[in-house]
Amino acid sequence: MNQKQAIQNNTQYLEMDRVLRRFFINRDVLHLCEEATEEQVEFLHRALLRADELREISKRTRLVTLARFPMIKSLEGYDYTALRFPPSISKDELQQCSFIQAKTNIVCYGPVGTGKTHLAIALGIRACELGFSVRFYTVTELVLMLAEARKKGRLETLVESISKLDLLILDEWGYVPVDKEGSQLLFRIISDSYERKSLILTTNLEFSKWGGIFTDQQMAAAMIDRLVHHGHLLLFEGQSYRMKHALMRKGGVSDDN
Ligand SMILES: Nc1ncnc2c1ncn2[C@@H]1O[C@H](COP(=O)(O)OP(=O)(O)OP(=O)(O)O)[C@@H](O)[C@H]1O
Ligand SMILES: [Mg+2]
Repeated sequence: MNQKQAIQNNTQYLEMDRVLRRFFINRDVLHLCEEATEEQVEFLHRALLRADELREISKRTRLVTLARFPMIKSLEGYDYTALRFPPSISKDELQQCSFIQAKTNIVCYGPVGTGKTHLAIALGIRACELGFSVRFYTVTELVLMLAEARKKGRLETLVESISKLDLLILDEWGYVPVDKEGSQLLFRIISDSYERKSLILTTNLEFSKWGGIFTDQQMAAAMIDRLVHHGHLLLFEGQSYRMKHALMRKGGVSDDN
């Protein structure tokens, strides 16, 4: 084996080749390694891997910024005791975001303050770390943006940008009634997303009551059908975290007194 072949078979060479491809740099520069000392090749290898690592970090930061999370929440320390998983998905699968590759949905259903939004954001951030494009909206915010975009003739641009996402998070589904136009716009987003991307939806409204907020029972039924068909229903049970912690704080104050 000559020196050129030896370099090309080398793991270092393969790693540098991979990084150069990602940076769209002509890989012929690697021929310089044929004239370089071992230390010089080692240095170039380290420099390229570091550049690649920094690029990945900035990509993930950019994805988190673009997702517009209302706050940062983490899966670390999240308390799963009040959460019931369906047989179709385990806690590990959820945390690994395998549902995004499978283009399936997650519906987080439960009473107020039980951690639905927290989990949705934390999963969204994990998805960004894995390189997925994500966008977080409350349903009210999305409906308003869609209606505004339609008025300004920019609806198609907004719909297209949503269609490119890997994960769309819709928080507070059913908290505020949606008018007829809003329901139609929302329906378009849901049906465009069906089997093409994942949705995480948080709600405290049982399916049988969805018709009431969308004014149109048939449309509500069609949305439920699409959301639930390839979906996992996570049931949040128990007492509101907000309430529990407020009560604990109150207890702390009286203990001190
Ligand atoms: N299981 C949990 N583990 C850790 N923190 C939690 C958990 N559940 C709730 N919290 C915290 O309690 C607060 C309320 O949670 P969150 O906003 O996620 O509730 P929610 O179910 O979305 O309520 P709502 O239906 O009112 O929107 C947040 O600060 C959240 O971080
Ligand atoms: Mg919430």
